[in-house]
Amino acid sequence: MRTQHSQEYFHQAEDVLVGGVNSPVRSFQGVGGQPLVMKYGRGAKLYDYDNNAYTDYCLSWGALILGHAPPNVILGAKKTLEKGTSFGTTTREEIELAQYIIQHIPSIELIRFVNSGTEATMSALRLARGFTGRAMVVKFDGCYHGHCDDLLTTSGSGVAQLKESSSLARGIPENHIHNTLSLPYNDIAVLEETLKKHKDHIACVIIEPVAGNMGVIPGQLEFLQRLRQLTEQYGILLIFDEIMTGFRTRAGGVQTNYGIAPDITCLGKIIGAGFPIGAYGGRKDIMRCLAPLGNVYQAGTFSGNPVVMRAGLATLKLLDTKFYERLNAKCAAFIQDINGFLNTNAIPVHITHYHAMMSIRFQQQPVTNYANAQAAAGGERYSRLFWHLLSAGIYWPPANLEAFFISSAHTIKDLEYLCTQLKKFLKP
Ligand SMILES: Cc1ncc(COP(=O)(O)O)c(C=O)c1O
Repeated sequence: MRTQHSQEYFHQAEDVLVGGVNSPVRSFQGVGGQPLVMKYGRGAKLYDYDNNAYTDYCLSWGALILGHAPPNVILGAKKTLEKGTSFGTTTREEIELAQYIIQHIPSIELIRFVNSGTEATMSALRLARGFTGRAMVVKFDGCYHGHCDDLLTTSGSGVAQLKESSSLARGIPENHIHNTLSLPYNDIAVLEETLKKHKDHIACVIIEPVAGNMGVIPGQLEFLQRLRQLTEQYGILLIFDEIMTGFRTRAGGVQTNYGIAPDITCLGKIIGAGFPIGAYGGRKDIMRCLAPLGNVYQAGTFSGNPVVMRAGLATLKLLDTKFYERLNAKCAAFIQDINGFLNTNAIPVHITHYHAMMSIRFQQQPVTNYANAQAAAGGERYSRLFWHLLSAGIYWPPANLEAFFISSAHTIKDLEYLCTQLKKFLKP
């Protein structure tokens, strides 16, 4: 495969961008080698500057549930763009997207749009502290909630690639994290003990109810139910980070599937159709603590940008029950094929999944927490798999704890080809 143009552009990038990238996990540090520079995307495919085509299973880190450049979304964004780029006022587009989300996620009564997932979780934390008058925050090992100081301890995703170092060497003074407790995922006993011990000081518990940043690990139902019971009992706010899971497997979120209502939900990715977005919303009494109604301050020049809102709404409106049935069925068939092969051949590898969110584990046993996930990440074997797939025209996440995704633009043939290539690499 010729990648000469990509290489030249990447060298230029390294001269002017830190590490040649604007987000660390794009750097291929997790798999070695040099990143590709992409030119455009259409449907399930990404094209680089040497005109190589790749079937994309990274999909802008999960933002593109319809694939690249879906006509309705592009049209909606273009029409809105022609009216202007940003007004710094309330717009119809914001109202309509807010109405749509609130209609589909009953736990959200009021919502605030921001510009990234990080901004959403960071602001949700501030809101929880303002509402409860407490300082401590509980999170879970291996969950990633963006790069806010308070939540960067024991995080999955790109943070997992960092070398061991003190928090200060990472730019985070101890006093920023001495109020953060990070617990093992899916461990009811530790959860009960910790919440009981610190109940009067904990403002909130934040969790990915289905984790996607240590590979995919569904939160166990009993664990999430107990978490909801305890937080309610102790007056602690429960924040579901559904930035990756929101509108991924159904119109709504994991919370609808599990029948658990958090106090605050964070959203991002899919609701912005590939534009920069984040949102947090929840109970009215909590949300009303935000300025201008309350004293918790959070603001943004570009928050609720009309082009982003219109593109997001154009996406969400296509995601009806039939859409998810088709998408989830495609995923189920792929999973059955690949895991069936691995099982029959006694190959100690499996694909974990939560519908269209998936990841590979280099062991047979299920993975339920971060320690397991790290042990099953595959290390150098994952890197070789990544390069094998890339040379076969398949773009997978360039780090072993990232999830891969399927969009409606992926065909059954695409998935069969992925399966063939995985089998080729993994065969005994
Ligand atoms: C679950 C989760 N929360 C928060 C974030 C941060 O979002 P952003 O990258 O838009 O800041 C991510 C990003 O991958 C995420 O997966």
